[in-house]
Formats: sequence, C-alpha cells, structure tokens
Amino acid sequence: MYDIIIIGGGPAGYNAAERAAHNKLKTLLIEKKSLGGVCLNEGCIPTKTLLYSAKIYDYAKHGEEYGVTFKEAAINHDFVIDRKNKVVKTLVAGVGAKMKKAGVEVINGSAVIQNKDKDGFNVKVDEKIYTAKHLLICTGSEAAVPPIPGLKEGIASGFCLTNREILDLKEVPKQLAVIGGGVIGLEMASYFNSVGSKVTVIEMLEHIGGFIDREISDILYKNYVKKGIEFKLGAKVTGVKDNAVEYELKGEKCELAADKILVATGRRASTQNIGLENIGVLTEKGAIVTDEYGRTSIANVYAAGDVNGKSQLAHTAYREGEVCINNITGKKDRINYNTIPAVIYTNPEVACIGETAESIQQKGLKAEVHSFTLKYSGRYIAENEKGDGIAKIIIDSQNKTILGLHMIGNYSSEIIYGVAVMMETKLRVYDIQKIVFPHPTVCEVIREGIFMIE
Ligand code: NAI
Repeated sequence: MYDIIIIGGGPAGYNAAERAAHNKLKTLLIEKKSLGGVCLNEGCIPTKTLLYSAKIYDYAKHGEEYGVTFKEAAINHDFVIDRKNKVVKTLVAGVGAKMKKAGVEVINGSAVIQNKDKDGFNVKVDEKIYTAKHLLICTGSEAAVPPIPGLKEGIASGFCLTNREILDLKEVPKQLAVIGGGVIGLEMASYFNSVGSKVTVIEMLEHIGGFIDREISDILYKNYVKKGIEFKLGAKVTGVKDNAVEYELKGEKCELAADKILVATGRRASTQNIGLENIGVLTEKGAIVTDEYGRTSIANVYAAGDVNGKSQLAHTAYREGEVCINNITGKKDRINYNTIPAVIYTNPEVACIGETAESIQQKGLKAEVHSFTLKYSGRYIAENEKGDGIAKIIIDSQNKTILGLHMIGNYSSEIIYGVAVMMETKLRVYDIQKIVFPHPTVCEVIREGIFMIE
C-alpha cells in the first residue's frame, strides 16, 4: 500500500516523486520506457545537445567576422549523435540515482488503472496490482500525426520521422522537408541546415513560431532565410508519396522532393490505454482536465505535465507536479500559467513570457508596448556582428507592472527567468529601476527598457 502512485517518469513525474518522498509519502513511480520521459530521452535535452554543436559550427564558420580563421570548419554528425546519446545516458542515470536517494520505489512497466475500492486506487503493472491513496498521472504526450494521406505509411517505412526518430538519424538527408514551422520544426530545421541538409519548412500559417510575437517571428524568419532554410508559408500539406511531399499554396498544387520528412505538427496528450475510463477521469480533446491545483474530476487523482494538454513545456510540468504534491500534503498551492517562460533554442534564441502586443489588443487590456534593440547592450554589440535582436516589453498602463516580455538574441533563454521573477512578484517599473544588473551583459537591456517607461 502506497500513499501515492505516480504514473510516468518524465519531468512532471520524477520531480513530483522526489518531492512526495521528501514529504514522507510512500511513493511508487511507474515508467514504461526510460526515466526522464520525452524531455530527457527524445526532446529538450537531446535537441539542445545537437543544437549546441550546430551553434559552435556556425560560430566557426563566421569566425572571420571576429578575426578568427580556420583551415576548414566541419561538423561530424555521427560524433554529435554519439555525444547526444552519452549526455542522455548520464542524465537518465542521474534521475535514477535521485529517485534512489529520495527513497522513491521505481518499477519499469506499463501501468493500467483498474478501479477504486475501500483501500484506494488499484493499478496493474504486468500481472501485479499496486494500491495507493492518491494517483498522479504524468503520462506526457506523443507526436500528433495529422490525417494526411500517405503519412502513416511514410512513418512505417521510415521516410517520415517524428521528433523521436529524427534524433537518431544516422545519415544527414540531402533534402529534408519539415511539416510544421512551430518549435520542434524550427529547432530541427536549424540543426539539419547546419549539418548540410537542404531544409524546406512547410507551414500552414503565414508566419513561423506559432505563439511568438509577430515582429520577433519575422526577425527569426529573416535569419533562417539568410542561413539558407527555405519556407513555404500559408501552405497546406495534402499528401505524402514516395520521395516527395505534396502541398497546396495559394490554390496551386505543388510538390517537393525530399529524402526525409519531419512531422512537427504538434503533440497530443498520452491518455490511451492507461485505464482512465475505469475510474471515470474526465478528458477533453484527449487531454486530462485539471484545475490550477492539479486536481482532475476524481477526488485524490491528480495530473501534471503534457497529459493535461495545457502548456507542453518541461518546466511547467515540474511546477505542476510540485503543486499536486503540495496540495496532497495539505499545503495549498496553485500554478500561475501567466508567468511561464517559453524558449526556442534557435540561433539566435527566442524567449517569451506573458502577454504579446497582439494578445493585449485581443483582450482589450490597457497596456503599453515598448520595443528596443539589443544594441543597447555593449556585450551584445561586442559579440554579435550584424546583430538584429530586439526585446519588447509589455507594461500594464495602470499598475506599471510587466505583463509580458519577448526577446530575440542569444542569452535570452537565460535572461527570461529574471523577468518571470519580476512578473511573479509583481514588481513595478519603479522597483525594477532600483535593481542593479551586472555590466556588461545582455540582460542590461531589460534595465534600459524599463527606464524608457514614463
Ligand atoms: P507547435 O504547435 O509548436 O507547431 C506546430 C506547427 O505546425 C504550427 O505552426 C501549425 O500551424 C503547423 N501545422 C499543423 N498542421 C500542419 C499541416 N498539415 N501542414 C503544415 N503545417 C501544419 O508543435 P511542435 O513544433 O510539434 O511542438 C510540440 C510541443 O512541444 C510544443 O507545444 C512545444 O511547446 C513543445 N516543445 C518545446 C520546446 C522548447 O521549449 N524549446 C522544444 C520542442 C518542443
């Protein structure tokens, strides 16, 4: 008998398991594949490992702009993939060690919720039943495969790949077609462009990067085009056939030859075959319905991470898992979805948080938008020849607090958390003006921006 059974050992699950054990809950964590989930095994970490190699290579190629020349810069894809595997192995082992140290019992297998009886919830793994007073479902998400004719067959034959398979691709495809210009599509387009593929991104919308600020999306687009990535915007993929992808653009039927196709059209919650129906957990559009406390429709059953279909970010998952454990252990806690930063690890990086210039208009919020170049930072100029980075800050006109920040330029992935702190603690412009930022840094542009506000 356990206090809590956590199903799924990704960021939501393993972090919650550690917190639960620290809170003296007898904790069982069940994972069917490898600890660390999509983030560690086939998402955030492997992608960032690949992108870091690509970044070094890109810097080497542009070394002469900084007075550094090489005989010939080269990138070895096999080596990069091997290194990625080592990084993943180290981190997965680290999660295992963390669980052991915290006193979490971990079992490898597929969990299916059976029912609830007087003792609690019964969960079957292989032929054994485990019982707990609380359940936390953290089964994550999987690549959504849209109903495009030929796509399923393409995936079966290995011609079409999702985020998982592309990370283990042995050969660099000469022509890579990417369906979807969202986060995954852009990050992988960036890597494969760097290692020599001719990359074409086919995106249904008229812009890339989905949710990101439109001006920033345009700057990213220009940077990508300069690198040699091609885009078909406003293009709807209509079919996949042998060695080609078919799409419609402005009413015209077009075809693009490809050696491989990456499908990056979003992810869907993994709620199938885990027995949710056996205890009546409510789902909507395939995702578990949760509130800001992490509660599902069934008492003592919680859900965190991608499975709730809300944010699909590892850092949101960490926080959601913690919120669940806090509420289970009687410390009332809720998640604030308005202050969750998002980063795209392209080169240049993009980072955003909160409202955008577009969303304040849609919501009719009284807010001001201040846009400024990253060239206000001496370090940015020192490190970025022809840098075109900007930051855009959205300020509540009445309270003078930050409602959002959007940035393109390197280090923005590391800078954004500072803004999250300012937003979470509702600092006003006058409070932020008193904060000393280190010099010379790129984050100083936040201070510059804040002083532009009356
Ligand atoms: P996404 O939702 O970011 O982008 C999918 C794109 O595909 C959209 O722009 C959509 O308009 C387009 N699309 C959909 N169907 C299409 C079609 N038939 N033809 C052409 N375009 C089509 O989804 P993505 O990139 O798959 O990422 C999934 C999730 O993973 C995201 O929610 C993201 O937040 C998360 N993620 C986060 C990362 C990060 O934090 N850096 C890295 C990678 C993924």
